[in-house]
Amino acid sequence: MIFTIFGATGDLTTKKLIPALYKLYEDDQMPNHFLVNMIGRQTHEEDLFIQRIWEQIEGNFPNWNHFKSHLRYIKMDFTEHYAYEAFAEHMRTIEDYDSQERVYYLATAPRFFPVIANALVVNALVVKGNMRDKIIFEKPFGENLETAKAYNQLLLGLIEESQIYRIDHYLGKEMLQNVLMVRFANKIFESIWNRDNIEHVTIYAFEQETVKQRGGYYDRSGALRDMVQNHLFQTLALVAMDPPNGLNDRLIKDEKVKVLEKLEFSSPIIFGQYKGYLSEKGIPSDSKTETFVGLKMFINTQRWSRTPFYLVTGKKMKHKRAAVVITFKESNCFFESGQPEKNTLTIEIAPREGLALTFNGKAPGLQSYVMPMKMDYCHLCNVIGNTPEAYEKLILDVIHDDASLFTRWDEIESSWKTIDQLEQLKDYEPLYIYENEAEMLEKLKSEWGQFLTYL
Ligand code: BG6
Repeated sequence: MIFTIFGATGDLTTKKLIPALYKLYEDDQMPNHFLVNMIGRQTHEEDLFIQRIWEQIEGNFPNWNHFKSHLRYIKMDFTEHYAYEAFAEHMRTIEDYDSQERVYYLATAPRFFPVIANALVVNALVVKGNMRDKIIFEKPFGENLETAKAYNQLLLGLIEESQIYRIDHYLGKEMLQNVLMVRFANKIFESIWNRDNIEHVTIYAFEQETVKQRGGYYDRSGALRDMVQNHLFQTLALVAMDPPNGLNDRLIKDEKVKVLEKLEFSSPIIFGQYKGYLSEKGIPSDSKTETFVGLKMFINTQRWSRTPFYLVTGKKMKHKRAAVVITFKESNCFFESGQPEKNTLTIEIAPREGLALTFNGKAPGLQSYVMPMKMDYCHLCNVIGNTPEAYEKLILDVIHDDASLFTRWDEIESSWKTIDQLEQLKDYEPLYIYENEAEMLEKLKSEWGQFLTYL
């Protein structure tokens, strides 16, 4: 396999892609012959570039010296058509080029998708209908509905849908894959998974990190496009979809689209920007880009109408943590002492992967006091080693031609429809400059009150 990364000097390569490829290599999941081409515009000596990656990657890589012999750095300006001729020549000198799988990973800002995809096809590096040639598009796919549509149309003119992988790495996360299992393999949940029994749902993804070196991309994106359009909406779709008529990929995606088509939001939308954002590399000094967003959404379906879904994400928060919290309605049974608490089911996505169910029972002792109790399942603790990182799973799926955990065009299209509307509201909503997580949580509490007890 020849795995080529465009935009390889960006954070994604060191943070996710190289560690994922390394782990697949260590687990014997990579084909015997593989080569990783890392394409960047900067002038680097190959050895020094690989050494820099080694210094930046986090984790344990005991076989790095073997693995690194599969890595190449190629200096190339991927916006220039002529550059692809030399690249194509280089590719064709690779041993067994014709019989290898060729995967191109576009880890670039979306505006470069058309030029790269087009040049790959013009130079016959990707041939329409040849299932050995595949292109993975990093999210967000497009900057808004209009550009996403234009990119998609152009791509479908160049290659087959089956050669296109629109990645949303959240879908490769263990606990996201677990949502459907938990919902549909358990009678106790599926029968109460609706507005009659669920009071509200909170989906959050907090990060301690700032935008770091990604200012150039991030400032044109913001939290709405970077996290909500893809990761949070996909999570919401899995939590809220109706049971599919069968557990096949197409039917599941059909149900997800029905949810994404019915999203509605209620104002105010809470936008925030962390203090210090304007001094980050690549950020204009008057930028109004949000690094935090809090949304109250509704899904206009029979199952969910009037049930609030709170979606919250932010950078520079206290800790990294992501979860889905389902809060059930109050029980209407009264006891002499103590008030039962609302049941909650928490699907923990990161950093711990797990499930926690809170319920009420009798406190030990002579009196009849109601006491909250918790059943806590740690998914991560029950496997030997770590659960696979999302990118490992997804790259392996591409190698095996399995697009089930990749987003279909109509999912992306429906998501952009809502995001475009939300983007327009930015001009009317205040942008809070926050120093820490607590300030933003206070803000949310003052808007949404009691609902945020579990955040
Ligand atoms: C990416 C966003 O898609 O997801 C980043 O572009 C964000 O801004 C990242 O940091 C979070 O994903 P994870 O898997 O690291 O929690």
